[in-house]
Amino acid sequence: MKYPTVLGVNIDHIATIRQARGTSYPDLLQAVQEVEKTEAEAITIHLREDRRHIQDMDVPAIKNTTSRRLNLELAATPEMVDIACKVKPSDCCIVPEKREELTTEGGLDVVGQFARIQEATRKLGAAGIRVSLFIEPDLEHIARAREIGAPVVELHTGAYAEQTSKQTEQREFKRIIEAAEYADSLGIHVNAGHGLHYDNTRPVAEIGVIRELNIGHAIVARALFVGLRKAVEEMLEQIR
Ligand code: PXP
Repeated sequence: MKYPTVLGVNIDHIATIRQARGTSYPDLLQAVQEVEKTEAEAITIHLREDRRHIQDMDVPAIKNTTSRRLNLELAATPEMVDIACKVKPSDCCIVPEKREELTTEGGLDVVGQFARIQEATRKLGAAGIRVSLFIEPDLEHIARAREIGAPVVELHTGAYAEQTSKQTEQREFKRIIEAAEYADSLGIHVNAGHGLHYDNTRPVAEIGVIRELNIGHAIVARALFVGLRKAVEEMLEQIR
């Protein structure tokens, strides 16, 4: 085990419930306070272009409330980069975004969108924000992320998490290990996330070079039955 793996709790889906009715509850700041009763290291939110869950005003409100790192996920658009440079979260994770998708499907196109992603990475970095690129666990993509100059990558674990056969799950898991070890050998800080839940997270945390897992949907779903604090603590147990 090279590094301890820490948890970033993605609270987007608490905002999804709020936006479904346009109410003021559930209160995201109360959610942040619950997460802060645990040893989770970061709060993660995704300001999507369609504003389907997190709203603009949530970003500074959470930044001013939390004592943990704030990891803002965003598309590499001038609008999003401007917002991030004003609010200055500690971390930004650049993600691909299509309006019609259910959730973030696939990693960034670091080959086709190289210049655009590099420009966003440069601007965010100049504002003192640590930038991560959400990419597929693929060696070529890692090499590109390094050329872009990103200090962090977040490996997309969706293909691993969504497999229904043990054989394909193992194949995807191997890709994550190889990608994580390669990125680590280049001096890139490696995070991972997407689709992780209480039954598939432990092996990813055991890889040893993945520093942070960003997990949302499974934790918020579990919180319905045990409360948010307990749901986060149960995920921390898996990670440890
Ligand atoms: N990491 C990134 C970059 C994401 O876009 C998401 C989904 O918002 C997550 C992690 C969390 O995924 P999940 O909600 O499936 O745990």
